Amino acid sequence: MEILVTGGAGFIGSHLVRLLLALGHGVTVLDNLSTGVREHLPVDGFAFWELDDRAPEARARIAAGHFDAVVHLAGQTMVDASIRDPHFDASENVLGTVNVLEAARESGVKRVIFASTAAAYGDVTEDVLPVAEDLPLAPLSFYGLTKVTVEHYLALYQKLYGLDYVVLRFANVYGERQGDKGEGGVISIFAKRIASGQGLTIFGDGGQTRDFIYAGDIASGIVHALTTEHVNTAYNLSTQTETSLNDLVAIFGKAVGRELHPAHQPAREGDIYRSTLANEKAKALMGWQPEVPLEEGLRRTVAYFASVSSV
Ligand SMILES: NC(=O)c1ccc[n+]([C@@H]2O[C@H](COP(=O)([O-])OP(=O)(O)OC[C@H]3O[C@@H](n4cnc5c(N)ncnc54)[C@H](O)[C@@H]3O)[C@@H](O)[C@H]2O)c1
Repeated sequence: MEILVTGGAGFIGSHLVRLLLALGHGVTVLDNLSTGVREHLPVDGFAFWELDDRAPEARARIAAGHFDAVVHLAGQTMVDASIRDPHFDASENVLGTVNVLEAARESGVKRVIFASTAAAYGDVTEDVLPVAEDLPLAPLSFYGLTKVTVEHYLALYQKLYGLDYVVLRFANVYGERQGDKGEGGVISIFAKRIASGQGLTIFGDGGQTRDFIYAGDIASGIVHALTTEHVNTAYNLSTQTETSLNDLVAIFGKAVGRELHPAHQPAREGDIYRSTLANEKAKALMGWQPEVPLEEGLRRTVAYFASVSSV
């Protein structure tokens, strides 16, 4: 397949592009390098367009590009930034997407895969855990709202123009090359500190849980979404496993072969206590499942940060 990956120089994109190339697909990356890093991608083997996805040139080049599918990862990923500056968030996450969708439908792209988020669900009560895809979406940040808005745009583009889509709502993604802004930062923060011999701090009692999924498993979920027959719907990509921060530190300790003793600080206001997404729909309909155990993923992540801090 000929595949356009917007935001391909970002953290998740860097895992996806490697996998797509290994599978023999033709890949074009469109990225404005605002948070992405060109050096996080292989040197060659694909086309790289340094462009903002809101630009007229981006639309023209996508429209002329003959892509079978678009994987749309580009956007701003910071919940806090979306609250401080909803205009910036909407420009990045809505207007950029509309430009990409217009180009996609003009040029006969067959399918768009979209990176949505657990933040689309908002703060859910513990009785609905693990959260399934049919739970009403009730985001509590503009970031979550713009992701939900794009989900609606995709449904309407499908209705009006027959452009198929798959929405993927990611849990807390971690792995090599993750930045420390944006979603899911706790593992990248801890991994960097462990790699450089610094101590860890947990806010609150450490019993708060997250659903940590390795970026390579997200990349394989996207590959399944490119070929599934079950399109025009949303899937969670998650492990469906809750890991508390205390357990996370213990697993980090196993991964690096030494005990870690984090400091504790008061809990931060507004942090949700428990979080996990159901993944049965993606397993049943797309035949996907996460493969990388947390300990192995943490080992790879610490090794990566140790290698970059030593150069
Ligand atoms: N990391 C997570 O835990 C997580 C969870 C849920 C959803 N997501 C979503 O997955 C996608 C990828 O996230 P990531 O963690 O790799 O973030 P990232 O910031 O590393 O990647 C985003 C990429 O998009 C590029 N970009 C941003 N604005 C652009 C624009 N206007 N035009 C062109 N390129 C632009 C950036 O340079 C970067 O390379 C995002 O849409 C994010 O919302 C991530």
